[in-house]
Amino acid sequence: MKITELETPALLIDLDIMERNLNSMAAYTKAHGLRLRPHTKTHKTPALARRQMELGAVGITVAKVGEAEVMVSSSPNELLVAYPVIGGKKLHRLMDVAKHTNLTVSLDSVEAAQGLSDAAAGAGVTVGVLVEIDAGMGRVGVTPGPQVIALAKAIDRMPNLEFRGIAFYPGHIKLMDDAGHAALARVDDLLSSVISDLKTAGFAVPIVSGGSTPTMHHLHEVPHMNEARPGTYIFNDRNTIASGACKLEDCAASILLTVVSTAVPGQMIIDGGSKTFSSDGVGGGATGFGHLVEAPEAVFEKMNEEHGYVKLKGVSKGFKIGDRVRMIPNHVCVAVNLHERIYGVRGDEVEETWKVEARGKLQ
Ligand SMILES: Cc1ncc(COP(=O)(O)O)c(C=O)c1O
Repeated sequence: MKITELETPALLIDLDIMERNLNSMAAYTKAHGLRLRPHTKTHKTPALARRQMELGAVGITVAKVGEAEVMVSSSPNELLVAYPVIGGKKLHRLMDVAKHTNLTVSLDSVEAAQGLSDAAAGAGVTVGVLVEIDAGMGRVGVTPGPQVIALAKAIDRMPNLEFRGIAFYPGHIKLMDDAGHAALARVDDLLSSVISDLKTAGFAVPIVSGGSTPTMHHLHEVPHMNEARPGTYIFNDRNTIASGACKLEDCAASILLTVVSTAVPGQMIIDGGSKTFSSDGVGGGATGFGHLVEAPEAVFEKMNEEHGYVKLKGVSKGFKIGDRVRMIPNHVCVAVNLHERIYGVRGDEVEETWKVEARGKLQ
């Protein structure tokens, strides 16, 4: 099928770019002796998880139990739920997943560990646990110090749990400038002291899991970690560009749209708004809700649910009703979650169509 035959809005993935992104991350992590366990919240598609594993990823990461239930169909050897799972029903469902893969959960409380232990004992399975450390983001994670040892000891005493190490997410580091490098060095110092305290307390720390797309080329500056968990890198987006971690030509995802109105002078309306893109902003001095490939000077200024307002002031290219344009989204992970299908394209051809099987799996 040709791209021209697709109905809009349609989420396109340039396969050449995606494959380059996957290959370069696989090569980087291999060169630096890092296990790669990519976060699949970006693509939510088992076929793409398979591709990551075929390229050497040791397994995959998810945030939600619903995602785990879908992504387990990609047959991962190891599956990490990088999110505390709270609540009996969710834990019960997660134990079904544990029967099909080597499951690990990262968590930061005795309550979360106790629930997991009870569920695992009830199901007769063993579940791995990573203690989540707050490495500076202030979201989840135990503050480094004696609390980490206390939680590791509690986990160690609980039936059907196996302490497997620590996890962190450096989401506070958005730009690898001097301050970013210094922040990454501080993360490594924190990890070093936590690992040393754990070892003194008698724990082996086989897994130190972390990383993000903005820091993806600099993970070797954190020698105490041994597992990388980037997600967005598979497609990249305007915020990855803003972070300096990729260039425009590394963005694999764009949304194909149709110009549906030019009634207001100096403006065109495209057939995608907040139900197509998400309302995420963009950093790094960029503006608008996306990058218009055909006219980068245009500003995608405003969105209603199904209307995108593109200001054409100073844009030399003319647009007419029925024209098709492509927009690179600010935050691709949220955009993917809004689409039923992803179209893998090469040149003018639609080579593959994937159902976004884990879209909307928030529970
Ligand atoms: C816990 C955790 N790990 C890994 C990632 C992947 O980060 P990125 O999308 O920057 O690659 C995220 C992203 O939100 C996350 O929350």
